[in-house]
Amino acid sequence: MTAHISIATTNNITTKPFLKWAGGKYRLASVIRAALPQGSRLIEPFVGSGAVFLNMDYPSYVLADSNHHLIDLFQLLKSEGGGFIDFCQSFFDKEANSESVFYQRRDLFNATNDIKLRSALFVYLNRHCFNGLCRYNAKGFFNVPFGRYKSPLFPRQEMLAFHRKSQYACFNVSDFSHTMKMAQKGDIIYCDPPYVPLSATASFTSYTQGGFGLEEQNRLAAMALELSLKGIPVIISNHHTPFTLNAYKDAKIEFFDVQRFISSKAESRGKVSELLAIFS
Ligand SMILES: C[S@@+](CC[C@H](N)C(=O)[O-])C[C@H]1O[C@@H](n2cnc3c(N)ncnc32)[C@H](O)[C@@H]1O
Repeated sequence: MTAHISIATTNNITTKPFLKWAGGKYRLASVIRAALPQGSRLIEPFVGSGAVFLNMDYPSYVLADSNHHLIDLFQLLKSEGGGFIDFCQSFFDKEANSESVFYQRRDLFNATNDIKLRSALFVYLNRHCFNGLCRYNAKGFFNVPFGRYKSPLFPRQEMLAFHRKSQYACFNVSDFSHTMKMAQKGDIIYCDPPYVPLSATASFTSYTQGGFGLEEQNRLAAMALELSLKGIPVIISNHHTPFTLNAYKDAKIEFFDVQRFISSKAESRGKVSELLAIFS
């Protein structure tokens, strides 16, 4: 079933994620919030920056992502709070915003096995690298270049808000299919996979090594249908394309236009059409 047109590009919800994240849903949180049914637990298999989690009111949350650097950081922030936030802030020092320091710290991030140091450097890199992107080379090394910002801000208040809300969340590094298999009756699942490319060349799917292809998109849609038939609602965000219309043909669809802010290509910063597929 395909219907229901609603248009929204901004919202008035104030809880911002502390990380910049490609495909982040901060500006769409109110639209997503309106589409999600009540439940006892929200499961997000593709949590990214946590923009949706931060703006919802469920009693508890399961938040997962395949990026283990991201989940390590969230777990530390949840358990250590203020002390860890101070440690992260220590990397936003006078020397922080220079190209040579950036590349030294990027090398350190790629070399260290110290999870606390690596997590603090992840926050530093996120605010100082080009467009706040998170990309890795074939060897799994973070390889985004220096961002040349005037004065990157340390997101202290946003980290504190995340710390407080994360007390109701449990974090896992896992593939989406594993996360979805743990759902039980009463759970609501919100999926925000890497976008299906708008065109063959507009591929924006390399958030982690390995990417996320059309086969995974179809597998996700099939799992969503299967879970909804068992009484567990699944809502999926994606671009509005012929491919997604077909993949989500068994769902109710809501369409809206979105202003793009994070993109390495200026020409793809315009409006794009997105959808929410509601399997329930
Ligand atoms: C569009 S982003 C999610 C953005 C998030 N909703 C937000 O507002 O910040 C997609 C996320 O999926 C994760 N991801 C990619 N492949 C995955 C997989 N196979 N299983 C789980 N997570 C995956 C990426 O690391 C990325 O964080």
